[in-house]
Amino acid sequence: MFKVNDNFTRLPSSYLFSEVARKVKAFTESHPEVEVIRMGIGDVTRPLCPAVTDALHRAVEDEAHADTFHGYGPEQGYGFLISRIVECDYRRRGIEISEDEVFVSDGAKSDTGNIGDILSMTNRVAVTDPVYPVYVDTNVMGGRAGRLMPDGRWSEIEYLPCTSENGFVPALPTGNPDVIYLCYPNNPTGTTLTRQELEKWVKYCRDNGALLLFDAAYEAFIREDDVPHSIYEIEGAREVAIEFRSFSKTAGFTGIRLGYTVVPKSLTGCSRDGGKVSLNGLWRRRQTTKFNGASYLTQRGAEALYSEEGQRQVRETIDYYLENAGIMRRSLAEAGYECVGGVNSPYIWIKTPDGMSSWEFFDYLLERYHIVGTPGSGFGPSGEGYFRLTAFNTRENTVKAMSRLAGVKH
Ligand code: MLT
Repeated sequence: MFKVNDNFTRLPSSYLFSEVARKVKAFTESHPEVEVIRMGIGDVTRPLCPAVTDALHRAVEDEAHADTFHGYGPEQGYGFLISRIVECDYRRRGIEISEDEVFVSDGAKSDTGNIGDILSMTNRVAVTDPVYPVYVDTNVMGGRAGRLMPDGRWSEIEYLPCTSENGFVPALPTGNPDVIYLCYPNNPTGTTLTRQELEKWVKYCRDNGALLLFDAAYEAFIREDDVPHSIYEIEGAREVAIEFRSFSKTAGFTGIRLGYTVVPKSLTGCSRDGGKVSLNGLWRRRQTTKFNGASYLTQRGAEALYSEEGQRQVRETIDYYLENAGIMRRSLAEAGYECVGGVNSPYIWIKTPDGMSSWEFFDYLLERYHIVGTPGSGFGPSGEGYFRLTAFNTRENTVKAMSRLAGVKH
């Protein structure tokens, strides 16, 4: 009889957001009269901006004619998009990234999940806690996580707690990890790290031969000056870090899918015999084998984001979500909740009131106020006692949800 990948059988039976969706579905089916406001999974509600939809229409037209039709594209992305990424996301910030260091894909979730393909199974992994579950679950699938312990931690993963006790700033690891995941602005806490903090991490990785996997999916929400937009703003990061970017939350691409990953050519790992190996080459090999490139249409849509008009329209959309976040922060504070995030991020991280567990608070908000959020414990053991709300709903629903909570003092 054939064998399955046993690592999968070690995982909890469902992915966090699938579990939330299952509970919400059960609730709405048994309470069809109730209007539930969804602030759980970070899915956007604003439509694509006109610069993008115009470009998409033009691209569809291209595909309708033999002389402008595009079939398979380059696996790492079209030059017309990559050159805009290099210029607008990096060069304008004083960062030199070359075009062959950028790999366009169908999103940061896929890339952060797949990056383990090019890393040894024996690497020891560190994550901040709470953490975007994809980093942990894909390392379980890849056999790097060990056993699930009764406290919800995996035995071979180093967890770096981020709680109100340390101001949500992770301490440097002590367990000598080979691979470290950081996501800033952070999902789920919505907090950021200053330049000085990030410098510590880059130095740590350089001194200890560790790889930094830096997820910058929420970069477009940064509004404060001392928060770096890219890990490559930090000197020396090109030798230790891979950066993941996403168009999902930036430009409403959650449904049409697009992201990119930067793998500098100066970044090398070690082979079994101690030789140096370029990660750029390995990732290229991986992508050209397992991925046929993001669609021509989507890449034309993303290219339009970098036009002056596109940049302005996208900024307006993000400002809209950040204004929602401001409304939420103020309303939650008035109602007596302790919370962080929502300044350079669409996520607000709330301390659950009255010692409630994260899932108790989930049920309480859903049943009492018909608001859906995400239980903090779903993001890791240090998320217990916390709860995440997103600012991605409409203004109307955001105001409505907050008024449901108003007057309920905690
Ligand atoms: C989230 O809610 O954490 C995100 O939407 C999940 C994702 O980007 O995959």
